[in-house]
Amino acid sequence: MITIPVAQPRFALSLALLTSTLLWLGGGGRLRADDAPVPDTLQQRIAACTACHGPHGEGTPDSGFFPRLAGKPAGYLARQLQDFKNGLRKYAPMEYTVRYLSPEYMQEIAQYFAAQQVPYSPSPVPRIAADAMKRGETLATQGDAARQVPACRACHGEQLTGVQPDIPGLVGLPYDYISSQLGSWRTKTRAMAAPDCMAQIVSRLSDADITAVSAYLATRQLPADMHAQPAGSVNPPLQCGVLGGKEQGA
Ligand code: HEC
Ligand code: HEC
Repeated sequence: MITIPVAQPRFALSLALLTSTLLWLGGGGRLRADDAPVPDTLQQRIAACTACHGPHGEGTPDSGFFPRLAGKPAGYLARQLQDFKNGLRKYAPMEYTVRYLSPEYMQEIAQYFAAQQVPYSPSPVPRIAADAMKRGETLATQGDAARQVPACRACHGEQLTGVQPDIPGLVGLPYDYISSQLGSWRTKTRAMAAPDCMAQIVSRLSDADITAVSAYLATRQLPADMHAQPAGSVNPPLQCGVLGGKEQGA
């Protein structure tokens, strides 16, 4: 029996990292305890992030929990920072970290991490039965018309590497991360601007489906080209409020 991991704040670590983060961000990069002026550079701001996300945003070995940022579409990353700030996506250390960031800085930071090219490392996957793996493949590549679940690849791209500028890839992500994010849509600790297509999709998946599709995605052989597909190259079967950088539902 596989349970869906739900992101649990690891307080001891998070608090230590958070303190240093707040020193960087709260100080605006201008003053430190010794009052020595420090230049306010992008590199410095990013130092507040790499403790958790890795020097190039590759995710830490524990990246089932501290996700990779490297190579994800910039529009997607910037929107996540906004969503932590405006409370659509919840995880306290991230909410504090982005609280003082301006939209311009969010864009710059997002572009920095989007441009990082670092190898993907393999991540552990649960053992699941062959028929569950098959179910995961069906959901990812064909969907389930009876349950009104579109294929994941209809939006996340032919090779599931994402679509510029708004849709993240689903390959190269650890099982724990994928399943906990899907769980977060269900527990409403993650949302996007309405209409929230991922919330609709997740509401139509069973727990077993979440396990199956997460395991399938996490065990994919990575395509040689991990870049997101060009903008406009998919025709999403459901409306998502975030596509094209505009809110469609308003
Ligand atoms: C205390 C550790 C910590 C620090 C510091 C931190 N993060 Fe995070 N970040 C996380 C965790 C954990 C998550 C995943 C939360 C969840 O489950 O939704 C996350 C999620 C994200 C995401 C969403 C990733 C995705 O693929 O959806 C982005 C973008 C991000 N962080 C950027 C940053 C940036 C930029 C900084 C610095 C300004 C930063 N983080 C600092 C721990 C941290
Ligand atoms: C109608 C389009 C659409 C379909 C179909 C779709 N997604 Fe998504 N998905 C999105 C969008 C848009 C986002 C970005 C959400 C955000 O900004 O918070 C997303 C985000 C995600 C994320 C978060 C990735 C990260 O790095 O944090 C996961 C996991 C995910 N989708 C899994 C799936 C799975 C599994 C399926 C198939 C069962 C699927 N999606 C089908 C549009 C779609």
